[in-house]
Amino acid sequence: MGTAIKVGDLRKNFGDFEALKGATFSVEENEIFGLIGPNGAGKTTTLRILGTLISPSSGVAEVFGHDVVKDANRVREILSYLPEDAGAYQYLSGEEYLRFMAGFYAHDKTTTEAMVSAGKDISGLGDRLKDRVNGYSRGMKRRLLIARALMIKPRLAILDEPTSGLDVIQAYHVRGMIKDYAEKMGVTTIVSSHNMLEVEYLCHRVALINEGVIVAQGTPDELKTKYNSVNLEQAFMEATQLG
Ligand SMILES: Nc1ncnc2c1ncn2[C@@H]1O[C@H](COP(=O)(O)OP(=O)(O)O)[C@@H](O)[C@H]1O
Ligand SMILES: [Mg+2]
Repeated sequence: MGTAIKVGDLRKNFGDFEALKGATFSVEENEIFGLIGPNGAGKTTTLRILGTLISPSSGVAEVFGHDVVKDANRVREILSYLPEDAGAYQYLSGEEYLRFMAGFYAHDKTTTEAMVSAGKDISGLGDRLKDRVNGYSRGMKRRLLIARALMIKPRLAILDEPTSGLDVIQAYHVRGMIKDYAEKMGVTTIVSSHNMLEVEYLCHRVALINEGVIVAQGTPDELKTKYNSVNLEQAFMEATQLG
């Protein structure tokens, strides 16, 4: 298996503010990788650079060997990006929304319908897909958006805070659908979260980020052992010397 994401000494300045101060990490093919840290740590900035939405100030970011700046078009073809603040079209039904979005990726009706069918399956929304999105709960909307991101079978899925704002039951289901689908279909996935406990269940490996710096990376077990901690939250506090 190869390397899916390589990030090296990545920096991003907004004016004279340094949002990323030389982040370095890598993600292996078929991994579910977590970028974990508090609000303002630089998670969204990192994911937006990987998603080719913004350019780094310096450093390297590659997706399956393609540079996100020089080969941005190639990178866009192999990834699917779910922004932190994504919404769906309220006046479409869930199924219409999936079909509308599939139209941007598929070039014929058979492929479109295969994507819609996959999306319906991944969403787990069943008959509710016939209903308009504006009647969905927050958890149902999130499932629809994640299904939209995954139905195109990207080589890389970038999911920015896929469980934020959900209650424990909704978040449980969303984590389950990501894990099931990514593992079944072999989709390399990078998720961000400010919830350090949930990622232990979801992610094979994680990077802890704080104030634009990756402070540690490894499997949840490796990090807990290294920082002599009972969970990743405590490991984070130890790694950042805030504990
Ligand atoms: N477009 C921008 N202009 C100025 N500052 C920004 C911009 N985007 C992000 N930042 C700042 O960069 C830091 C990291 O933001 P972000 O990557 O969104 O963090 P996270 O996703 O971990 O919460 C924050 O302090 C944020 O205010
Ligand atoms: Mg963010």
